Amino acid sequence: MNILCTGSEGFVGRHVCKKLRTLGHDVVGVDNLEPRVHGNEPYKAEGDPIAGVASGFHKVSYDNIPYSVLREVDIVIHLAAQVGVADSMTNPVRYVEHNTMATARFLEDLARPGRLHKLVVASSMSVYGDPLTAQPIRENHGESPASVYGLTKYDQEMLCKFWGKQHDISTVVLRFFNIYGPGQALSNPYTGVIANFANWLLAGERPTVFEDGQQTRDFVYVDDVADAVVKAALNPTTFDTYNISTADPTTINYMALHLAYSLDVDIDPNITNEKRPGDIRHCIGNNSRFALEFNWAPRTVEEGLKLYAPWLHEQCVSHL
Ligand code: UD1
Repeated sequence: MNILCTGSEGFVGRHVCKKLRTLGHDVVGVDNLEPRVHGNEPYKAEGDPIAGVASGFHKVSYDNIPYSVLREVDIVIHLAAQVGVADSMTNPVRYVEHNTMATARFLEDLARPGRLHKLVVASSMSVYGDPLTAQPIRENHGESPASVYGLTKYDQEMLCKFWGKQHDISTVVLRFFNIYGPGQALSNPYTGVIANFANWLLAGERPTVFEDGQQTRDFVYVDDVADAVVKAALNPTTFDTYNISTADPTTINYMALHLAYSLDVDIDPNITNEKRPGDIRHCIGNNSRFALEFNWAPRTVEEGLKLYAPWLHEQCVSHL
């Protein structure tokens, strides 16, 4: 299969491309390689075991891919997006432009005749907003984004679904919960709580915990997410939306303590009791539909952290 992956050099994209190549598929990666101010680290060709695995690579924005490339594609995996909840509230145009508008342009380019039969689009738990009562959230919970970022992820979902229906292309939406694992930027404060905590712990500092630390999240390991993307891309399922989550709540306090244990450091978190503006209290996803239909079983947080810890230690050594 000839598979095109947008955002191929991002955190999830690199894992997805690597998996597809291992399975023997031809992967065409597309990424503008812009430094990720609010996402992952810029592309690193050297010393990065994940980057550069695509068989073809185009340094271009995904709404500007040459038709000579698009017409050869059997499957599209659309991962490219501007990521950052707080940032999206102060820079809404940037998010609407990079996520909503660019997806619309990308789909217009795809609409010309070609070999395409499958479209997988990455979405986010942020489309649900703050679902206080219905945990773990099911896919039919109803969308109510609480940030511009969430709104533009919902736009991406809907644009792809409309387009898929119109062109009779099997379209799958995957709503990712809190992803962590090797390749996630440590130096970026917006990258996610585990990377932040790791950064502090490896520097011998106390992780800053907002609120009382009893808020919960659904942490899913990046390799399991990549596995889900690959399964969705290679299986003939039509027009469906799935949570990609573990369905297990983890408190932020537990995460801080268990990460310290995994990294073999004895540092307690600093609990601030201050709420970060815009944060939701709990967000756990029911994953039974994807797990059953695709025979998918994500790792527990403990298993994931065990695999993640050696990579984190390596980063620490390479920064010395
Ligand atoms: C949000 C988005 C999610 C997006 C992710 C990455 C929502 C509902 N979710 O997740 O879609 O993929 O950002 O951009 O909009 N925390 C600390 N200390 C820190 C950092 C965070 O205690 O240094 C706490 C936060 O207060 C929060 C939890 O950890 O309670 C998780 O925060 P974070 O990792 O930033 O992600 P979300 O806000 O859950």
